Amino acid sequence: MSELAGKTIVLGVSGGVAAYKAAELVRLLIKAGARVHVVMTENGVRFVTPTTFQALSGNSVWTEAWDDRRANNMSHIELTRAADALLIAPATANILAKLANGLADDLLSTLVLARDCPLLVAPAMNKQMWGNPATQRNVERLRADGVAVIGPAAGEQACGEVGEGRMSEPVEIFEALAAFLQPKPLAGRRVLMTAGPTYEPIDPVRGITNISSGKMGYALARAFVQAGARVQLVSGPVSLPTPYGVERIDVQTAAQMHQAVMQHVGEADVFVGVAAVADYRPVDVAADKIKKAGELPAIRLERNPDILADVASLPAAPFCVGFAAESRDLDSYARGKLEAKRLQLVVGNLVQDGMGGDTNQVVLYDAWGSHPLPRASKREVAVGIVGHLVQLLATGG
Ligand code: PMT
Repeated sequence: MSELAGKTIVLGVSGGVAAYKAAELVRLLIKAGARVHVVMTENGVRFVTPTTFQALSGNSVWTEAWDDRRANNMSHIELTRAADALLIAPATANILAKLANGLADDLLSTLVLARDCPLLVAPAMNKQMWGNPATQRNVERLRADGVAVIGPAAGEQACGEVGEGRMSEPVEIFEALAAFLQPKPLAGRRVLMTAGPTYEPIDPVRGITNISSGKMGYALARAFVQAGARVQLVSGPVSLPTPYGVERIDVQTAAQMHQAVMQHVGEADVFVGVAAVADYRPVDVAADKIKKAGELPAIRLERNPDILADVASLPAAPFCVGFAAESRDLDSYARGKLEAKRLQLVVGNLVQDGMGGDTNQVVLYDAWGSHPLPRASKREVAVGIVGHLVQLLATGG
């Protein structure tokens, strides 16, 4: 189930080309089980018709402060009373300027002033407008007033120029909103993680790797961000988008992963090893592609560093979480890892359950015993793992 299921979101659409992306955002919110009420400015209506938002949200769209659908004409107050958040996407330079100065000259700006729920804005404008000191001043003032600012992104703009100012993609805004509305038990905590497989080259085109997709680690990174943590993710080669709010460091080999982890671990309160790290690597990497003709090549292997063990044995080690992927005897192997590597928590899973797919079934092992979680999507499993970890941190590990 999505974190936004059952939430009520008021979506403000102001007048920018990115208004068409707001339609996709509504679709994502509805699919996640949220209730959406759309409020459009006069200029917003010039870009996308209210009918589009009405069809997607299943609710009437609000465009006028003077609307006799409310008997007492108090829609500017009532609309946000049941809302969990008011999100403006796209938010033009003009609406940001109005909000920063407390102007209320149409329904959307009046709603903002009269709201009793959090406000998020996703700016969208030309790069010169975004870079203008007046806009920057307005955004700073809004931030100081507690408004959450999502994006903007950099890239090609509708006007043909390239630069910062285009609205974040709907899925990023959705993720930012979902994260914003979650409780933040890990606020102020820094989490360093590994995820995905490693790749140990044999020659320029071949290497040793495994079938880890990175999905479990990426879902966990997302859940940590939603719980308020600052997350650094050292990732092996995967084809997954970086979760919203995660700082990603790409590596290929176990040695590179080890180096990146050691470089950042000093700042971490929690370390989580989700990566399926190759235990061995070829001693010699051929400079040229190994040819089929000739003698059968022999690949000599040497041991890779154990990243998790090295982190756990640091003098000021962070709270250490390991994963154990086994094909049998999960209980004894996972407990063995908990003790041998002196970890605070081990997440055990069977490779046939967890590797590659979208679901997983895990058992959590800690000093108090074992705690099975039900089979669920990796996103849900990740939320369960973070919940357990929060409890352990609260009780001092
Ligand atoms: O990526 P997915 O397709 O979503 O699959 C998820 C997963 C099955 C890969 C994940 O849930 C998982 O179990 N990850 C750990 C896999 C693994 O390598 O387990 P292990 O038992 O070999 O290693 C134990 C622990 O030591 C792990 O935390 C691992 O990251 C760490 N390790 C292992 C070897 C090494 N050289 N350095 C390490 O840090």
